[in-house]
Amino acid sequence: MEGSEQIKPELHKSTTGVEYISAGDIRDFEKSGDTYLFHSDNAVVSVQFLTPALFRFKLVRKSRPLQLEFSRVIEPAAAASRAEVVFTAHEDSYELKTAALTVTLTKAPFGLTVRDAQGRVISEDEANGYGWTKEHLLFSTKKAQGENYYGFGEKTGDLNKKGTVQSMWNTDVYAPHVPEIVELYQSIPFLLAAKGESVYGLFLDNPGKTEFDLNGGETYRISCHTGDLEYYFLYGPTMKDVVGQYTFLTGRMPIPPKWAIGYHQSRYSYETDLEVRELAQNFRNKEIPCDVIYLDIHYMDEYRVFTWHPTRFPQPQKLLGDLRKDGFRIVPIVDPGVKKDAKYIVYREGVTHEHFCKYLEGQTYTGVVWPGESAFPDFTNTETQKWWGAKHAGFVADGIEGIWNDMNEPAIFNETKTMDLEVMHGNDGDPKTHGELHNHYGLLMSKATYEGLKEQLDGKRPFVLTRAGYSSIQKYAAVWTGDNRSFWEHLAMSVPMILNMGLSGIAFAGADVGGFAHHTNGELLARWTQVGAFLPYFRNHSAIGFARQEPWSFGEEFEAVVKKYIEMRYVFLPHLYTLFHEASVSGLPVVRPLVLEYPQDPKTYNMSDEFLFGDSILIAPITQPGTDHRAVYLPAGTWVDYHTGEVHEGGRTILAHAPLDVLPMYVKQGAVFATGNVVQHSGEKQDITFHVYAGTGSYSFYEDDAETFAYQDGAYNLLRLEQRVEGSQLLLTWTEEHSGYESADQLTFQIHLQGGRTETHTVSKAAGNLAITL
Ligand code: GLC
Repeated sequence: MEGSEQIKPELHKSTTGVEYISAGDIRDFEKSGDTYLFHSDNAVVSVQFLTPALFRFKLVRKSRPLQLEFSRVIEPAAAASRAEVVFTAHEDSYELKTAALTVTLTKAPFGLTVRDAQGRVISEDEANGYGWTKEHLLFSTKKAQGENYYGFGEKTGDLNKKGTVQSMWNTDVYAPHVPEIVELYQSIPFLLAAKGESVYGLFLDNPGKTEFDLNGGETYRISCHTGDLEYYFLYGPTMKDVVGQYTFLTGRMPIPPKWAIGYHQSRYSYETDLEVRELAQNFRNKEIPCDVIYLDIHYMDEYRVFTWHPTRFPQPQKLLGDLRKDGFRIVPIVDPGVKKDAKYIVYREGVTHEHFCKYLEGQTYTGVVWPGESAFPDFTNTETQKWWGAKHAGFVADGIEGIWNDMNEPAIFNETKTMDLEVMHGNDGDPKTHGELHNHYGLLMSKATYEGLKEQLDGKRPFVLTRAGYSSIQKYAAVWTGDNRSFWEHLAMSVPMILNMGLSGIAFAGADVGGFAHHTNGELLARWTQVGAFLPYFRNHSAIGFARQEPWSFGEEFEAVVKKYIEMRYVFLPHLYTLFHEASVSGLPVVRPLVLEYPQDPKTYNMSDEFLFGDSILIAPITQPGTDHRAVYLPAGTWVDYHTGEVHEGGRTILAHAPLDVLPMYVKQGAVFATGNVVQHSGEKQDITFHVYAGTGSYSFYEDDAETFAYQDGAYNLLRLEQRVEGSQLLLTWTEEHSGYESADQLTFQIHLQGGRTETHTVSKAAGNLAITL
């Protein structure tokens, strides 16, 4: 017998099509403190200027309350700052003017036009571009002619995201990462729109699912599946300015401990105490430098987090102590899933103190991950973050200073790959569904981990590595790009991915060198190690069931190349550390796409197969098998082949010869950078040599104790070096901009002169200058 079910509404298709309701026309204005509020037919809009070139825009439907507290990812200093605004009400529009921008809000149809101080249009919304359907809040802006798009954090595909659709939903993707996969582990809803040298940024602060459709002809469209429409508009004019503004807003990476930027070795898994000891011994016997060994899930007792396997790792403290004496650190993996087991203390505590995510009705949510059925801490509550952070005390007592957070999208072994969307998050008293906060989960787990470690490490800097994240993750963790494969295509793709992460605030990023899944081979490992050596995070990691890929896995020829480039990493470590310091201060990335330094050169706009290490060392990796030549585009300037000393004029493409042991590298004339001698790990003292490529340029060399927060109290050195040519002489001068840490009295310079000629000079630091005849 049929019941009422047969006439359910969804069985009858609507004939009205998709309904779009626009925000309507602006009817009214009010000022509340330093916030400008505009009431339209169907919505309320607020605008606040935090700096003259940075404003926050928020739109809520009339039926929803307008909450103006800043989200948890906005830096308190940014949230507290305000710029001076001159407000004018016109008949058809309102105008908000600062020293840098003029924002015009037209009343009917409603939309924003942003102009720079000279009155040039930077961005213009589509008429009636703000509105909603039943499913989405939408917003459309006109594309400017010739505009290119960057940012978006960890994404597949090329550097320039023009014509693509980017979606934000942290997802555990084991299937090969290909351009059509638009959601990976991280979500950074930050777009950089670049029109030549004029660049603006748009940060959509929404941790639910959101999309950026850059594929339309005239406009691009942004949609939010949950929450309100809240974005920050950041103006440059340069891309560097926008990255600076974005990291002012969402925070900058603290300087990592130096050991965290050395070479790291991992495998899923090094399964026993003995295996780890042998691995470490192999590195030292073969004199291949290494700072860190990772422990993947097998170190645990049936994958219970914060435990050690009783027979595989019977004496963790002893193991760690012995390895530490030999210069190694151990970083264990910690996933969020807590095994459901009434005998297990972490699970018991979590249930008893209500730390786990629950359904609205009160039942704890469980999902299946490595340990089987597991509960998931609700990191949106500060109390739970503290509880989780404190759980690391045992590790710290064992000698651990770094933690690897994985599966924190959170990944669950089910069809949706994650937690039920209706699971509730306490959110410190402002409950929200998982669907609304999904992209915050990994960020908050790493925050809890970082802060917990920091509290326990007695002044030492913690290191956290994470797979999932959201804007501001850079404050807590380095990011690796998840489960790539041992494919040449994935080596190539890792470069634009990491470059865009750098433009999105994440200066400390890298991919699994050699590839995680699938079998690698000697040639791929050698070429991948060359690239990894010059990317911010440098770890070789591979999956269970696939070929081993430690440096010595493919015979002597490949081992020699791998060793050479791991050694190069250490030779460049003093410079790399200086670049990390710069990133921590300015937010600028350690590795840079050419477009960041050469925005006036259209050839750089989608250059994805070359990058800059800092601002003056160009790296052009080989990302194809059986290849010993490649085309290298050198931008404006004079460039010196790092290996041969050959000089090339820029603004053209050259053919580089790159047999297996050569990574094409070019140093810009005028560059100065610091190197050190080869060491076996970052704890060994390095003697510094400054390389000076004769010309005009400067360098600020940074050093500190490499492992504590004493630098924050002034215990660091900043040495400013400048060079210029006067007549037939090269003049090199230096001053101590800051001197708070012990350092050498002598400075050694290697001067690179015309024709590949080099001269070495060691002089007293007190001298302050050096003149060399050219
Ligand atoms: C996930 C991680 C991978 C790790 C594995 C086992 O796939 O992305 O790096 O090795 O889990 O823990």
